[in-house]
Amino acid sequence: MEVKQLIDRLNDALGWELRAVNMYAHYSANIRGIHRLQLSPMFTTESTESLTHADIVRRAIVKLGGIPVTERNPHEITHCENYDEMLQYSLETETKAAEVYGEIMKLIGDGGDQEMYDAIEQIYLAELRSLESLRLLMS
Ligand SMILES: [Fe+2]
Ligand SMILES: [Fe+2]
Repeated sequence: MEVKQLIDRLNDALGWELRAVNMYAHYSANIRGIHRLQLSPMFTTESTESLTHADIVRRAIVKLGGIPVTERNPHEITHCENYDEMLQYSLETETKAAEVYGEIMKLIGDGGDQEMYDAIEQIYLAELRSLESLRLLMS
């Protein structure tokens, strides 16, 4: 296992989480119409979850001797006020997150830190759950 490569991928994940914190908080505040009732709390929950994920990933980077990024991933956060666009952008974000965590799990592999592997796997599964519930919401 290449530690430098692992730290870089974890930093990618951290950047996406920091972006997700902002994106979901933005959508939670901006959603209009009847769907606000249910989706505003859901976006807030996603934002808080991303904050928790960011903290776990940040600590993993420090444990490996790396320096965690402090800036979010620069991928644009598109302002919108209607729920289907927001859900579309949420799906895009969760797909990216699941992909990055899947790669990190492969990098840690069998020989790696088991505790770190388990923590990343928990995050990965949470991303898959979000993806699945978004798919159902949009179907
Ligand atoms: Fe996450
Ligand atoms: Fe997520």
